[in-house]
Amino acid sequence: MNRKMLGGLALTLGVAMVLGGCSSQRKNGKTNQKVLRIGVSSYDQYDTFVSELISCFQNYAKEKEKEWEITISLDIRYAQRSQMVQNSQMDDFIDDQVDIACINLVDRTDASGIIEKARKSQTPVIFFNRELVEEDLDRWDELYYVGADAYESGRLQGKILVEECRKNFNKIDKNKDGVLQYVMLEGEAGHNDSLARSMAVIEEITESGYMVEKLADEIANWNRDQAATKMQTFLDTYGEEIEVILANNDDMALGAVDVLTEAGLKPGDTDWPVILGIDGTSVGLEVVKKGEFLGTVLNDGEGQAYAMLELAYALVTENELPEKYQLKDGKYIRLPYREITAEDL
Ligand code: BGC
Repeated sequence: MNRKMLGGLALTLGVAMVLGGCSSQRKNGKTNQKVLRIGVSSYDQYDTFVSELISCFQNYAKEKEKEWEITISLDIRYAQRSQMVQNSQMDDFIDDQVDIACINLVDRTDASGIIEKARKSQTPVIFFNRELVEEDLDRWDELYYVGADAYESGRLQGKILVEECRKNFNKIDKNKDGVLQYVMLEGEAGHNDSLARSMAVIEEITESGYMVEKLADEIANWNRDQAATKMQTFLDTYGEEIEVILANNDDMALGAVDVLTEAGLKPGDTDWPVILGIDGTSVGLEVVKKGEFLGTVLNDGEGQAYAMLELAYALVTENELPEKYQLKDGKYIRLPYREITAEDL
């Protein structure tokens, strides 16, 4: 048994003690841990939401170094949307003997490379934001997930629209046919958040008694420019028929705003459709304030970053996880979403 394996065994026992909730010894944690080494790999460096989350993680790590009296060394990498690149970044983390890796998977259906490397080297992994299937997370005891329940965000997005319909249906229903004609901008094919959000938002609207008609939907990979290209086609094809634009995230909703603005439309005008995003990124919140979006749903990236750092620290140092973070099924931390409209800002 090599040093790393011994370390891993100690860590496994430690984790069982920290999370099992039965020992008073664990309150003190490891006293000899002077450096916490964390390898972080994000699927793409140009993703607004994930970038904001990572910068919160960096800031929080700086703050916590003082409080925890520990040096936190972060190795942050970007995988350029290639699972192969990310797998080799995991090899680097292991060679560099990180204490724990935080992985924002490129391909959530292809986690096996990372998991095998983690298990063999006994390096715990916290996956974040891009949720892998539960069977994968169950493949080893030291795999965790920090994120949010995507289905809830779709429901809340629908709720914002429903609340507005209750007040102003006649204004939204421009052609007065009693049906909401909508277009949808979806994230990535196969991404849990896109699938769940696209389904949940429509469920919420229809279950609340409003009829909808889908004019078109397109995948725009969470990206503002790609969404603008798709939106241009929607606008050319359907023009004023579009009453509602539902986007799986703020960046894509912003792509829609770009196209409408370029076409000379203004928020507040009768032909400006209702636009809804998800995330509450800094730029997303700005446009809610300006009235360009009816609203967004706050995806608490800051909270997720905090939770991830607290979990990493608790696992490695055998300290207790603060009570406000519930580790569901011993593996999941999911932060709640929140509706945001101009009133909230
Ligand atoms: C966010 C998107 C982001 C995606 C990346 C989603 O949860 O809402 O903005 O692009 O995660 O995985």
